[in-house]
Amino acid sequence: MPALDDFVHPTVIVSRAFYGVTNLAPIKTAVEGIAEAMINPHGLFVGDNLITMGKRLGFLDDKILMDAFLRNAETVAERGALWRIVTLVWAARTALRVEGDFVECGCYKGNSARIVSEVVGFADMPRHYYLYDLFQHDESMPHHSMLEHSETLVDQVRARFSDMSNVTITQGRVPDSLAVAAPEKIAFMHLDLNNADAEIGALEVLFDRISPGGILILDDFGWMAYQDQMIAEVQWMLKRGYRILELPTGQGLVIK
Ligand SMILES: C[S@@+](CC[C@H](N)C(=O)[O-])C[C@H]1O[C@@H](n2cnc3c(N)ncnc32)[C@H](O)[C@@H]1O
Repeated sequence: MPALDDFVHPTVIVSRAFYGVTNLAPIKTAVEGIAEAMINPHGLFVGDNLITMGKRLGFLDDKILMDAFLRNAETVAERGALWRIVTLVWAARTALRVEGDFVECGCYKGNSARIVSEVVGFADMPRHYYLYDLFQHDESMPHHSMLEHSETLVDQVRARFSDMSNVTITQGRVPDSLAVAAPEKIAFMHLDLNNADAEIGALEVLFDRISPGGILILDDFGWMAYQDQMIAEVQWMLKRGYRILELPTGQGLVIK
């Protein structure tokens, strides 16, 4: 059994990316117990507050996805979030059947957008990827700070996508910044703002622009720490006749 801070490919994944815990030791002991109890511990996924056992983890055989993931995901949190990336890549690939651009509100370092772009070969597509973020934080701002928020983060993200001329990065507060640049038609949208008001604001502007069959992923939807988002988004969607699927990753899924 690998140690809890290992990332082991291809049959067992154990990450120490857990949130809302004060002590990882009991989790490590529990995971070791699960592995010991199983006839074959393969198919164990541990990380990002998700533990599965005996699952196929078929995405590990997806070389294009895994290569892009391992090239880009560097931190413990980014590596632990593999299954969330799998959801995004599925959504993006599926959305390619319909007309429209790609959108991510809350791109931070551009990690998940970069992986999605590399997997689908976005640079060569006649579509546009719109990325939005504040990229920095001060105490007057309602969003929570992230480790790499800074005055220069926006330039770092622009540099990260400098090989993709069809990616537009807009700095500013969503939904206000959607007035600066936004697509008319959307195939794939990822909302990851950790803020109910901002996400509802983005939905008010952008949801009607999602093509029929287009896909929306709500990153924080099923996380206890962001319950206000679930409450607001369930209400908002029900009024329009849509139901959100809560995924074990904590993401919410809507097919337009
Ligand atoms: C969890 S991070 C996004 C991570 C990114 N989607 C990824 O997968 O790599 C959330 C980001 O949302 C941004 N954010 C929060 N509220 C915002 C708002 N109203 N407008 C723009 N960005 C916002 C924060 O600056 C932060 O970088």
